[in-house]
Amino acid sequence: MTLWGGRFSESPADSLFALSRSVQFDWRLAPYDIVSSVAHLEVLESSGLLPKADCAKIRSALTNLFSEVQSGKFLPLPEDEDVHSALERGLTEKIGVIGSAIRAGRSRNDQVTTDLKLYLIDNMLEISIAVLHLQEALLAKSLEYVDAIAPGFTHLQHAQPVSFGHELAKHAVSLERDLSRISDWMVRSSTSPLGSGALSGSSLPISPESTAKRLGFDSVAQNSIDAVSDRDYVAEALFIIAMIGLHLSRIGEEWSIWSTTEFGWAQLDDAYSTGSSIMPQKKNPDVAELARGKAGRFIGNLTALLTVLKGLPFAYNRDLQEDKEVLFDSVENLQLLLDPVAGMVATTKFNREKMRAAAPLGFTLATEIADYLVRKGVNFAQAHDAAGQCVQIAEARNCDLHDLSESELQSAHSQLAGDVIKLLTVEGAIAARTTSNGTAPKSVVLQIAKLRSNAALTKKWVETASQKFIRTMTL
Ligand code: ARG
Repeated sequence: MTLWGGRFSESPADSLFALSRSVQFDWRLAPYDIVSSVAHLEVLESSGLLPKADCAKIRSALTNLFSEVQSGKFLPLPEDEDVHSALERGLTEKIGVIGSAIRAGRSRNDQVTTDLKLYLIDNMLEISIAVLHLQEALLAKSLEYVDAIAPGFTHLQHAQPVSFGHELAKHAVSLERDLSRISDWMVRSSTSPLGSGALSGSSLPISPESTAKRLGFDSVAQNSIDAVSDRDYVAEALFIIAMIGLHLSRIGEEWSIWSTTEFGWAQLDDAYSTGSSIMPQKKNPDVAELARGKAGRFIGNLTALLTVLKGLPFAYNRDLQEDKEVLFDSVENLQLLLDPVAGMVATTKFNREKMRAAAPLGFTLATEIADYLVRKGVNFAQAHDAAGQCVQIAEARNCDLHDLSESELQSAHSQLAGDVIKLLTVEGAIAARTTSNGTAPKSVVLQIAKLRSNAALTKKWVETASQKFIRTMTL
């Protein structure tokens, strides 16, 4: 069924109907559409526009429809154009034409964006919970390996030794930024488009403030023309998802590298690895690879929506229907991905000996020599040069920095004495980096504690927002 047709003498061409039909994907909005219909019904009722008896009938039909939608008993038919028309069919099937009275003072233009906002608030809260789980998996691993030593990298070359816990905790920090992006997004997106009508508001005495309140929004959208065409909240959510996906892809890349035979640092749990159909020995890091691969679609979906919105005239244009599939795809794929990534992180075992053995390779302690000279008052450029010469000597002799003789050290810089050798241990280099963000295990332990206490606050915020949302979704 369609919600229009009075001015047409012919029914739509099959090909047009096929092109414009959206119920096959926007059916996901059905529960939110019913909830916003109930909020709208309440304002129609209090404005006195609809007889109380009709309102009671419509309300009880909507309530029944809600449970039939949830249980799968009520489903769209091939002739339904979109979620709104399918639900209106459901309503009129139950109570006859009075069901259509609910359309007064509302247009699909304000309705669809209200539904989409509710869908997104619900799902962004769920995503926050899954991100918090992943973050905790990373933090628990960080703590477990805080005293494990590994080479840290720049340019994918050995750079300086680090606490492996520090290496893992960095991912929890990027996820912390993602979580704060979600809570910022929630504040900005909490405006209700309902009451904007097709584009210009409504001449009926309905109160957008009441529907906004009933639906848990903080306020009413300021400008009805903007409200029906605003999809900033979709673009921002797609960006946040792309950013989370990008962070997961970097986790995936590390896990893939660390589990190679060449590295041999990470041992994946059987439950989070896959085999090969031909090579019996294979154990592949598919979770890590899908984490890396899915970032492509998240970025593509964001780009697709931004391109739809670019130069789009106000107010509603049917182009806006293209906001949904990309959004659902990003939301659902991220939800699919977060749990297995958390599982992979939580169950991976790292080889402390291998990481420790690799830590000094590639002269990763050269900075210690430069810092030693700086503490003796030498200018850093000269100190850097002298440490570089030490590397050159050690390379030529095919030995390590701590194997250099007193005279070799002196040849690099007169102030380089034998006591520098005792500084040339990976343990010492790590323990010395006690800045609050540094790699010394005691600093990392404090960083983990801070991340955990921030996560606890975020969790509280998500719980409060989710409870509020459950109230919104209760008829
Ligand atoms: N299915 C449409 C969408 O998703 C609903 C709004 C249609 N509005 C209209 N005036 N044709 O955007």
